[in-house]
Amino acid sequence: MRTGIIGTGRIGSTLARILVAAGHQVVLANARGPRSLAPLLAELGPGAAAGRPVEAAGQADLLVLMVPFATVRGLLPPHVVQDKVLVDATNAFNGPGAAADPSGRGSSELVAEWYPGARVVKSLNTMYFETLAVAGTVPGRQPSERLAHFTAGDDAKAKEIVAGIITDLGFVPVDTGPLHSGGILQQPGGPLYNRPLTEAQALAWI
Ligand SMILES: NC(=O)c1ccc[n+]([C@@H]2O[C@H](COP(=O)([O-])OP(=O)(O)OC[C@H]3O[C@@H](n4cnc5c(N)ncnc54)[C@H](OP(=O)(O)O)[C@@H]3O)[C@@H](O)[C@H]2O)c1
Repeated sequence: MRTGIIGTGRIGSTLARILVAAGHQVVLANARGPRSLAPLLAELGPGAAAGRPVEAAGQADLLVLMVPFATVRGLLPPHVVQDKVLVDATNAFNGPGAAADPSGRGSSELVAEWYPGARVVKSLNTMYFETLAVAGTVPGRQPSERLAHFTAGDDAKAKEIVAGIITDLGFVPVDTGPLHSGGILQQPGGPLYNRPLTEAQALAWI
């Protein structure tokens, strides 16, 4: 499976590294264009390619958004992600969809509204990039000690696909429920945000 990652900053480049280390292929895009990604591609080797966001989205089986939330709307023509699993790993801190949003909607619900037809799963948004880099491959860690990543969404099959990737990376997938209620648990201000949690700890919060 080829995973597209839009945003190759702290979290996007980390995800690219651990996916390639786990034997996955990645296609990357950022704001400055594919040439700026030459050093990262050289580091990642033949499992990685780069393009413009629309190219990365078109080439990917599954697409992960790791850009500032404010850039998500209008980032891609919606038809490019029609029927595609779209992992929203962004966090909205102030503004529409943020924890304080009086409308009560989760930020990923807005993403789903902006990309109708995409199979949106909120995931990979809760863990700090320095933890993501190493926590899946700690030697000798028992299954019960593995850290959790979460999936929220309204498409059960799409969540299963994301859960498979989480497992491949050495983490435990935990389904938090629908995009609305699960997404709010996962976003800033929610109990699962920015806390390294095992599955048992996470289920207690949920
Ligand atoms: N940092 C974390 O530990 C962490 C953890 C989980 C989730 N997140 C979420 O992930 C997102 C990115 O966080 P970050 O810390 O990785 O930020 P970052 O280091 O500032 O990286 C942002 C990336 O987004 C790219 N970008 C910005 N605007 C774009 C556009 N219009 N089109 C394509 N690419 C664009 C940037 O491109 P250039 O490189 O060309 O500037 C850069 O690669 C945020 O929503 C954040 O809340 C972060």
